[in-house]
Amino acid sequence: MKICVIGTGYVGLVGSAVFADWGNQVIGVDNNPDKIKMIESGNMPIFEPGLKELVAKNINNGNLKFTNSLPEGISEAEIIFICVGTPMSDGGSADLKYIYQVAEEIALNMESPKIISIKSTVPVGTNRKVREFIKSKTSIEFASVSVPEFLREGSSIEDMNKTDRTVIGSNDSEALEKVSQLFNHLNSPIVKCDLESAELIKYASNSFLATKISFINEIAQICDLSGADVTKVAYGMGLDSRIGPKFLNASIGYGGSCFPKDVLALYKASEDFGYHFNILESVMKTNKNQKYYFLNKIKSIYGNSLEGKKVAALGLAFKNDTDDIRESVAIEVIKLLKELGAEVNVFDPEAMPNSQKVLGDENINYLNSKEEVFNDSDFLVILTEWKEFKDISNEYLLKLRDRNIFDGRNLLESSKIKELGINYYSIGRK
Ligand code: UGA
Repeated sequence: MKICVIGTGYVGLVGSAVFADWGNQVIGVDNNPDKIKMIESGNMPIFEPGLKELVAKNINNGNLKFTNSLPEGISEAEIIFICVGTPMSDGGSADLKYIYQVAEEIALNMESPKIISIKSTVPVGTNRKVREFIKSKTSIEFASVSVPEFLREGSSIEDMNKTDRTVIGSNDSEALEKVSQLFNHLNSPIVKCDLESAELIKYASNSFLATKISFINEIAQICDLSGADVTKVAYGMGLDSRIGPKFLNASIGYGGSCFPKDVLALYKASEDFGYHFNILESVMKTNKNQKYYFLNKIKSIYGNSLEGKKVAALGLAFKNDTDDIRESVAIEVIKLLKELGAEVNVFDPEAMPNSQKVLGDENINYLNSKEEVFNDSDFLVILTEWKEFKDISNEYLLKLRDRNIFDGRNLLESSKIKELGINYYSIGRK
């Protein structure tokens, strides 16, 4: 199938490479010429496991190419996927200006009938409004389809190849079938529905997952108060197939470019419909407070000043296997530690260049390995769930002058740490 993917962010770049790898003829479009040059020369604008190799493979076999020109990108395409960003606007709702910019360009340059499909996360009703907008600018026939994306950063290629489900919304049955053909080989359920249901499935899914995290973070606080162990509680809950084991890891809170934005956007959209979404209000409040809950564990030992203290910090990315620091709670915690007067030694396997731009260099030392952060430091904080942080040799842990570890991701084994004579504070575990 001939496909055009507009936008080369996480969804667009991964999507174009994976669609090409499935044997389609794909052309990726981005209006940033530097980004296109970078991708064509084999350098990815984002860190994503396996992406560089997949893009190179499909450029070489002729299935994938890129361009700055939207008219060129759409001219041959049967299906156009719009994958541009929908950032948070000042008021908290989704900012759709890039969607409309692209929609206008498509309308003005379309020369034959197309299937126009939005993959970006957009509020309920957007696909229909964009359809009316395009219709007002062209007389050429087109179908509108909503195909929300469910990939996670850090495992996006695998997520696309082994998706739990594909959601395709359209009021045009022919277009719905045509887009389904792209995904039929995955052998996972395809939910065929109307535009609005498809849009809402995406927001409801992200909001529900965020709710699971805030829920377990509150349970973790009850564990701290009662002496229960949140990892055992989550395990016991997760064995119930109605609940499921995933997204029950207590933490310093969820971050990233999706959950904070999408939960707020659904909350705001509900308000616009005249409905007050109580649960989501609590989910956001709990998430906002969770980093202070973690910080208070540190304050309960050190008081309100960390003047003269050097903190070893592991993690900057909003989660493991990514260099993305958007809405990263790790970054927020480091800012708070600095505000209390601490100097911070920090390491993250991928997110240091992005973090340095935001955190600067004052009172913060970016080090080359997880081991180096222990040099001359007083206590440890673990802020991102990179697997490699689970495995730190005792030799380094014993370098901590104050013998205190604050684990914001419950990565370490508490009994082992205690055997070393080190105090261990985590989220919801004794
Ligand atoms: C999320 C969804 O999981 C994807 O399905 C969706 O496609 C994507 O948003 C999107 O809308 O584009 P992502 O933001 O890449 O994916 O990251 P997640 O793996 O969902 O993690 C989000 C945050 O929750 C991270 O900060 C992570 O550390 C935190 N988290 C996750 C927890 O604190 N506990 C958990 O048990 C799981």
